[in-house]
Amino acid sequence: MADKADPQALVEAAIAAMDKAYAPYSNFPVGAALRGSGGGLYVGCNVENAAYPQGWCAETSAIAAMVMDGEQRIAEIAVAGRGEALVTPCGGCRQRLREFARDDLVVHICGPEGLRKTVTLGELLPWSFGPENLT
Ligand code: THU
Repeated sequence: MADKADPQALVEAAIAAMDKAYAPYSNFPVGAALRGSGGGLYVGCNVENAAYPQGWCAETSAIAAMVMDGEQRIAEIAVAGRGEALVTPCGGCRQRLREFARDDLVVHICGPEGLRKTVTLGELLPWSFGPENLT
């Protein structure tokens, strides 16, 4: 089980999840692994579709697994993809993460070789709109 001081298990789970990706159109596999606040580890991959906009991201799959297991708080997440550029969560996934986390969420950006950079959700999505806005 990964903890905040040592994200290695989370990083490895995200990298392993890349192998599960269904990405025949982009040929760009992405894996995500998140730890719920209850300690559960949830993984996901991108799942594309012949009707392109219907595909979804790895982070989205991992969030769905977490919610299905009854957890509604993300403690930490790792995302893995290849290429030289950092594979940060897309704009839509930043907002999806925000639904279950705050600015201090730790986001580990990984390549196939391991951890590349660690940022917070607040850095990726500053001045965000979230559930608290509606209360
Ligand atoms: N992708 C993700 O899974 N997560 C991201 O945050 C960035 C993009 C996927 C979506 C699509 O299947 C492929 O990467 C290329 O955009």
